[in-house]
Amino acid sequence: MEVVKKVEEVRARVDKEKRKGRVIGFVPTMGYLHQGHISLIKRAKQESDFVVVSIFVNPTQFGKNEDYDRYPRDIERDIKILNEEKVDLVFVPEVKEIYPEGFNTWVYVEKYCDILEGKFRPNHFKGVCTVVLKLLNIVEPDKSYFGWKDAQQLIIIKKMVDDLNIKSEIIGCETIREEDGLACSSRNIYLSDKDRKKALCLYKALERIKELVEKEKVIDCKKLIAEGKKIIESEKGVKLDYLEIVRISDLSVVEKIEKGVIVLGAIKIKDVRLIDNLRFE
Ligand code: PAF
Repeated sequence: MEVVKKVEEVRARVDKEKRKGRVIGFVPTMGYLHQGHISLIKRAKQESDFVVVSIFVNPTQFGKNEDYDRYPRDIERDIKILNEEKVDLVFVPEVKEIYPEGFNTWVYVEKYCDILEGKFRPNHFKGVCTVVLKLLNIVEPDKSYFGWKDAQQLIIIKKMVDDLNIKSEIIGCETIREEDGLACSSRNIYLSDKDRKKALCLYKALERIKELVEKEKVIDCKKLIAEGKKIIESEKGVKLDYLEIVRISDLSVVEKIEKGVIVLGAIKIKDVRLIDNLRFE
């Protein structure tokens, strides 16, 4: 496995593989790898011949009062995991490699970026779109892998790639959960044992909504959201940012459950923000 820091090194290495006709798979990450990332890498390994993983804690997707400085980082541990997973190339750029002095071009998807997460994290998706587009331009993968856990991110990236005629296929992979149902996230490490239990209320709310739809055939979104909110709001110390049901195709709000909708939620426990979702496909 090679570990490189420079854009030109990635390009040269990937070009060499492409000339041999190899299919390039790409998994962009911010490191501190967990089972969710590993599942993306395993899928990429299955479906491509040469797998590239990037590790870059992207400063432009964090707000001023967010956790950029304390975001968990452990590059040695990450490299060890990637080695075990037999990844071919790891790209670990410095901030100035991605954002050299004078960098001044930004990408975002109108309407999609300002709602849901975007309401609570202004400019977050502008940072995500810009860095993902840059990474796709650097790696030029045939296939790129993203988790459904960050559903709005995945939907926005698919839209950007579509709108801008980028060649990489964007593949969404299922959310990986801990034994108790908590969605795997690098930010779970911030939670104390007590808060971790509280955090489960979001998953429980989603499960309750699923049960109401599938078993009790409730399709009225207002009712479903009210039931979900009840569960979250009964948990002391948990602040609900939003719980909404929207279409996967364009994030528009729906009134009744139909095919292709997603329930998206975000909660805050102290200063830890967690998101989760549930799809009806
Ligand atoms: O999901 C993430 O880890 C990040 O948002 C991504 C896609 C690597 C861009 O920085």
